[in-house]
Amino acid sequence: MQKNDLMEKIISLSKRRGFIFPGSEIYGGLANSYDFGPLGVELKNNIKKLWWKMFVQEREDVVGLDANIIMNSKVWEASGHLENFNDTLIECKKCHTRHRREDLMSFWTVKYKIASTGRYEEIAEKFSKECSVCGSKNQLSDQRQFNLMFKTNLGPLEAQENIVYLRPETAQAIFVDFKQILETTRMKIPFGVAQIGKAFRNEITPGNFIFRTREFEQMEIEYFIKERGWKEQFEKWLSEMKKWIKAVGIDEKLVKYVNISDGERAHYSKRTVDVEFESPFGQKELYGLAYRTNFDLSAHQKLSGKDLEYRDPETGEKFIPHVIEPSLGVERTVLAVLLSCYEEIKGGRSTTTESVKEEEVVLRLPKALAPIKVAVLPLSRKEELSKPAKEIYHDLQKKFMCQYDETASIGKRYRRQDEIGTPFCVTVDFESVEDKKVTVRDRDSMKQERVAIKELAEYLQKQLE
Ligand code: GAP
Repeated sequence: MQKNDLMEKIISLSKRRGFIFPGSEIYGGLANSYDFGPLGVELKNNIKKLWWKMFVQEREDVVGLDANIIMNSKVWEASGHLENFNDTLIECKKCHTRHRREDLMSFWTVKYKIASTGRYEEIAEKFSKECSVCGSKNQLSDQRQFNLMFKTNLGPLEAQENIVYLRPETAQAIFVDFKQILETTRMKIPFGVAQIGKAFRNEITPGNFIFRTREFEQMEIEYFIKERGWKEQFEKWLSEMKKWIKAVGIDEKLVKYVNISDGERAHYSKRTVDVEFESPFGQKELYGLAYRTNFDLSAHQKLSGKDLEYRDPETGEKFIPHVIEPSLGVERTVLAVLLSCYEEIKGGRSTTTESVKEEEVVLRLPKALAPIKVAVLPLSRKEELSKPAKEIYHDLQKKFMCQYDETASIGKRYRRQDEIGTPFCVTVDFESVEDKKVTVRDRDSMKQERVAIKELAEYLQKQLE
């Protein structure tokens, strides 16, 4: 399959089956905004639940936080976002398209990453003098710095002192709340604070479906450590990220770990590894892992005047902790998962006796991520079958996200479920009325097993673990 075809198929499947659709559509849409539909919200929630389970619930050294999106503007002064969180904008005077500077470069000399934001800045010797949209020559404006933070006012008055920003990363609240978390949990270093939440960036050129949007979610951990031993901690987190990639079913062959070399990193980042994904639109940053030293806590201590040091309970030593930061985007995870798990089978699979074999789509999502875990399908709509099937459905609903479907042929119904990644289909047939058993079909192996109705929930629970 052509790479662009795959992207189009994912976008089309997402819209058709209610995973992701364009936002504000009845009003002509809003550029690059997307809404997660009934299946999309389940997939997204399952990704967040799995991340929380792996990195908070199952670890004794990580606790959670859910901070305010709007914070005191001093936060962004200390973090350097007010000054540095910029993109360079160039406008075509003819067609008025706004370009990011890096999109108009034709030759790169130096590439470095700003550690506070994780974004790339690139210095080039040559600019294209041509607008890439209308082709006009020598019509490009001067370069202008554009701060990516969304600005708004707190309260009704539009005064300077009321200006606030929508957070461009979730990380800063963790630094700001560091002391309160320490005091309320008595966590000992090394320990981490995890947060999932919305972040906003007024991107100049959003695009590639949900890859780069202005509103998105991040899953971030700030892992506080002593300076010595940071290399070991960095390696540990790198292997945790590899485990995560595997757990969510992202194709490991498409993932590259790119070391951002000396001179290319921001001044306070001693090491950065980008987790990049070979997408249909090129190799792009999926996640980032950074050793942020003690830059942020030091900056907040300085500006706030509050003591943000940690006191080692054993040695009495006082110091500002250093930080390892794994930073993951939720929407980029959704996209990489969909691209990795989508499979088309030409001519179909031999699930049914139907003579017409079409192209079948199977979304091989890990079971933990599947929006619907079990579909209940009576072989006929007759009450003799629909009544017990509904009872089974209502019973299973208490434990799993389920769907009930009695329309169309059984083959079509299996395909509908395969296409959205449902791991198990339960078929209720006429024999079920007699032997009190149902057929459970596995999405991947297509194996069918007869299971007693009274043991069904427990059986499925085991299979879904
Ligand atoms: N706290 C560090 C930080 O925010 P970043 O590299 O700017 O670093 C981290 O962002 C992750 O957030 C990215 O690797 C990506 O997964 C996600 N992300 C960043 N900008 C995004 C955007 N405009 N749309 C969707 N996801 C984005």
